[in-house]
Amino acid sequence: MPTEPENASSSNPSAAPGLGRRRALLAAGAVLAAGVGAAAGELAAGDRTPGRTAAAGGPPPEAPIPFHGVRQSGVTAPQLPATKLVAFDLPPSSAAADREALRTLLAAWTRTLAAATAVDGASTDPRLRAGGATRLTSLVGLGPALAARLGLVVPAGLAELPPFPGDRLDPARGGGDVLLQLCAADHWTLAVVNELATTAAQAAGATPRWSQSGFLPGTEPGATPRNLFGFKDGTANPDEDAARQWVWGPPGPHQDATVLVYRRIRMDTAAFAALPEEKQNFAMGRRAGDGAPLTGAAEHDEPDLYAKHPDGAYVIPAAAHVRLAGPRLDGGARMLRRGYSYDDAPGDRGLLFCAFVRDPGQFSRVQDRLAARDALNPFVEHTASAVAYVLPGAPEGTALGDHLWS
Ligand code: HEM
Repeated sequence: MPTEPENASSSNPSAAPGLGRRRALLAAGAVLAAGVGAAAGELAAGDRTPGRTAAAGGPPPEAPIPFHGVRQSGVTAPQLPATKLVAFDLPPSSAAADREALRTLLAAWTRTLAAATAVDGASTDPRLRAGGATRLTSLVGLGPALAARLGLVVPAGLAELPPFPGDRLDPARGGGDVLLQLCAADHWTLAVVNELATTAAQAAGATPRWSQSGFLPGTEPGATPRNLFGFKDGTANPDEDAARQWVWGPPGPHQDATVLVYRRIRMDTAAFAALPEEKQNFAMGRRAGDGAPLTGAAEHDEPDLYAKHPDGAYVIPAAAHVRLAGPRLDGGARMLRRGYSYDDAPGDRGLLFCAFVRDPGQFSRVQDRLAARDALNPFVEHTASAVAYVLPGAPEGTALGDHLWS
């Protein structure tokens, strides 16, 4: 039976001995990169057990996912099928009062989230006690403006994103001082925990700013979930070596922290679905059916961006999404993408793009290229945006953000 990856118990590279390159791992039969969840689970646990089936659909229902750990479970644990993002503002008072308010909020959220995931049924809310351990992961992040206002020690590159051509951003659906992403096996859990977290935030003086629900399709263990264009999304996520370089902070105070870039992207799913499948594949640079690059035979084959047809045209077209987004154009940089779909209204469905990066500039460089010429552009529109410093996890006995006050 597959075992549950624990929340990261150590960020020490030596905790994951013998990590090789992606290809070597695949060759060894590890389930690396078999879906967003698998990649993330590997990042969390450094577990290279062949046959491991950490997946987007999640491990077995009975397995607990601890809240406490060196890194936050909302980044490291396999993706659970339902998500809720909620953002709050902390109305400015004096710097000292604002720091105290944030500290109070983070302590309260630590208690709430730890109690919600308690394996011994110790949850403070009877609505969460029905069926054993609550399947919940979470991450808490701080917006760049709040970090600057309070003079917090955060990663150097933490900043709002620049505007991109084609953006249609609604400020009421993005930004925010404090961000919480909850992921769970079901909407019930999200609703209850969101209510508890919101009550705690308001008690600390924070005001709700926006919230957004999302979901994943049912996905076989170990498989990559699809987005609403029907393509596997999350295939080319980083392995642990690459994540250490591009996702987590450098050795030091931010080594167990990362930065979330959130984009709410409306997708014209009907227009895309009306394209012949071959054109869809050209736009993406991969095949919808199996997720393989147009130059490969299997999902995890590396795209060959130099391969050409006899007439000289690239096999992966010049404007294909994976060509423009790929790491070759960006010094090898990779982001950890853990997207969800959303469906809010007729004509308003799409992708909640959630990427974890060491530096938001990694996102901007890719988005600059995509905004200029991505073949997906006629079918997508960015409608909201947020950036958040994802705090290191809270090991047992500590609260989220403790390091901010020392
Ligand atoms: C609705 C909009 C989008 C859709 C439907 C979409 C879909 C996809 C799909 C299907 C793949 C190939 C499979 C995979 O590796 O996951 C992919 C790859 C990728 N996408 Fe997107 N994407 C969207 C927006 C974005 C944005 C805004 C960015 C960043 C600015 C981005 C960055 C990437 C990256 C870095 C890759 C991996 C490329 C590689 O290493 O081969 N995507 N995307």
